[in-house]
Amino acid sequence: MRRIGIVTSGGDAPGMNAAIRAIARLAAWSGMEVIGFERGWSGVIRNEYVLLEPRAVSGILHLGGTILKTSRCPEFKTREGVEKAARSIAEDDLDALIVIGGDGSIRGAHELSKLTDAAIIALPASIDNDVYGTDETIGFDTAVNTALTEINKIRDTAVSLERTFIVEVMGRNRGFLASEIGLTAGAEVILVPEIPYNEEVILERLRRDAAKGKRSSIIVIAEGVGKTRELAEAIERKVGVEVRISILGYVQRGGSPTARSRHLASVFAEKAIELLLDGERSRVVGIQGGRITSVSLAEACSNQKPLNLEILKLAEKLAI
Ligand code: ADP
Ligand code: F6P
Repeated sequence: MRRIGIVTSGGDAPGMNAAIRAIARLAAWSGMEVIGFERGWSGVIRNEYVLLEPRAVSGILHLGGTILKTSRCPEFKTREGVEKAARSIAEDDLDALIVIGGDGSIRGAHELSKLTDAAIIALPASIDNDVYGTDETIGFDTAVNTALTEINKIRDTAVSLERTFIVEVMGRNRGFLASEIGLTAGAEVILVPEIPYNEEVILERLRRDAAKGKRSSIIVIAEGVGKTRELAEAIERKVGVEVRISILGYVQRGGSPTARSRHLASVFAEKAIELLLDGERSRVVGIQGGRITSVSLAEACSNQKPLNLEILKLAEKLAI
């Protein structure tokens, strides 16, 4: 294990730089040379990289985003694209590639692992927290706390003007962000893609809350539900309260990583180097029940991470 590569891929997540820093420095302790591919899978395909010596990753621990840049790369979804990436790895004489990214990047890593002799190890990094095999991804905690800071501000005006706010959060297909943000923000209603949208159930809960004297409400909805505007109109028309929409958007993707996100980045990197030194070849690092573990790329890509519905039930009880 002499020479390894790193790539950050897909949606950027706070903590990716902490992971790059930890990998580069821990690899140096084991005598490995480290290169960093630029702009995600497209950088691997084009074989564009920089040398990552221990000093090259100083001053980045606290920075959001990724110094290597990232991308969404349609070409890598083709066999030819993956073959080109495998050729780059061979040309660079890499013994391993560490992939830092979300669910999609890990699926790409799995395809690449079938076409290269190099070891492929993935670190789950995404604000969506939708990676199978880990309770939590790098960046999720930061995105949740960023959203909470914004919702605290929204609550001030909701209470002052006695309005209902629909806060749309990220989560293209899954509701992990919405459910955690909803619980910890004390939302009255949390809507996620995993649960079929039922307008009448929502309206009935809001009518009941109004009857109990609630004068303002916060509804957290994952963007993947796709009903934000429709719901706002229905509430105004059928419940008779003022509604405003606040789409948090890309602030959830940036910002300085929290201690938790930095912690996960560091211990996941440590596990990745350990797996490489143990001769492991295609694994995804994760945390399960507080333990740093790993699952195979194949297992991670053939399963969907279940949403914890108990969180939603608890949030509903707490919002009486
Ligand atoms: P994230 O990793 O944050 O989930 P994406 O879903 O955009 O972000 O995936 C990042 C990149 O990984 C995609 O742009 C594509 O290049 C690659 N990718 C995603 N899914 C696959 C797949 N099933 N097979 C091969 N490559 C994939
Ligand atoms: O994958 C993370 C994510 O932030 C999703 O929650 C969101 O829907 C998507 O990326 C946005 O994609 P893009 O950055 O390409 O607009």
